[in-house]
Amino acid sequence: MPNADFVTGLKCRLCGKLYPKSPINFCTDDFGPLEVDYDYARMRLALSREKITKRPRGMWRYRELLPLDGDPTVGPQVGGTPLIRADRLADALGVEQLWIKNDAVNFPTLSFKDRVVSVALSKAREFGMRTVGCASTGNLANSVAAQAAQAGLETIILVPADLERAKIFGTAVYGAKVIGVTGTYDEVNRLCTQIALKYGWGFVNVNLRPFYAEGSKSMGFEIAEDLGWRFPQHVVCPMAGGALIGKIHKAFTELNTVGLVDTPVTTKMWGAQAAGCNPISDCVKSGRERHKPVRKPNTICKSLAIGDPADGYFAARLMRESGGWAEDVTDDEIIEGMLLLARTEGVFGETAGGTTVAVTRKLLDQGRIPRDEEIVICITGNGLKTQDAVFDAIEEPAEIKPSLMEFEALAGLAGEPALA
Ligand SMILES: Cc1ncc(COP(=O)(O)O)c(C=O)c1O
Ligand SMILES: [Zn+2]
Repeated sequence: MPNADFVTGLKCRLCGKLYPKSPINFCTDDFGPLEVDYDYARMRLALSREKITKRPRGMWRYRELLPLDGDPTVGPQVGGTPLIRADRLADALGVEQLWIKNDAVNFPTLSFKDRVVSVALSKAREFGMRTVGCASTGNLANSVAAQAAQAGLETIILVPADLERAKIFGTAVYGAKVIGVTGTYDEVNRLCTQIALKYGWGFVNVNLRPFYAEGSKSMGFEIAEDLGWRFPQHVVCPMAGGALIGKIHKAFTELNTVGLVDTPVTTKMWGAQAAGCNPISDCVKSGRERHKPVRKPNTICKSLAIGDPADGYFAARLMRESGGWAEDVTDDEIIEGMLLLARTEGVFGETAGGTTVAVTRKLLDQGRIPRDEEIVICITGNGLKTQDAVFDAIEEPAEIKPSLMEFEALAGLAGEPALA
């Protein structure tokens, strides 16, 4: 059965009005965000665990649950990242069962954004678009640039001018046109909306956003499958625009709806932000229904520095309704989190990963997450891109001449007898 038969159109998340599949992202009646609508009854008949597990590992083994009409033409190898049993980090945090979903090693640009971009650019091609772009806090820029290069699409990428060097470099290297904008991410995003509307280009997180955001569900599908087709009790997830956390939960709900997991979803969703840009965690903690935008984000965790998150309202509601909560941590705690993860599990996550580990610790210490329940932590990006954040916290290596005596003096082994 062609994939197009499962994707019925777009639907307003506020009023439910239906729209045809097209590059639009908001409802003309109430400006509510649009979401992809599926025929789950038909999907239920077409899907089985056997069918999925026979396919190659990777996000596209769940293709019926993703919003393309045809096969993916961009990024068919994305996803399928490891779910790691993290016993040493569990010991350090004082918990019994801990897993890391490690998207720091996603293909091709080492973040979960490769998932959303694979969907968005495949969809852009279905729409016949030749030019694509994005507003980005870094990882999205890397992924759009790399995957557009592979697809032979023209790219325009706008980022805040003060982004980490590695994130700008890791975009320009693919030949993408990168424009640094002297302003916040929210200002960059507004400019992209104007450009997308005026020129009809495919901005993955603007006019392609309903399709793009669905790609994040694949992280949730993989977590459930790798746990043996079941859901964890807790998921801790970093938040910027607030889409990923909602899509992981939506993935679990869909697996139950289409009959791939029998038990209903009871997973509690926990959100992580940096104290220097915490609109969503502040919204949850203060009991406000809607977030208060942060005008001037100020944190080393630039990838999560979105002051006015598009999905903030839905993310906050989900955390409250699922029984979870949100927290935010200081830059020093973020660095500690990055080092703890690296030194217990050998996983070098970026600042967003440090944020997620540190928030997990805080929520455990507050007694909100019980220590004897099963937790999955989402590590969504790679530390090699944000080395500046931890550079000063790492000792310089010692230097010696190529001499055994100097080595023994340094290692405190002087005068030890030889073994043989
Ligand atoms: C590494 C990393 N983790 C998490 C996120 C948050 O994703 P979302 O914007 O869907 O909340 C981002 C977004 O840019 C990111 O770059
Ligand atoms: Zn509407």
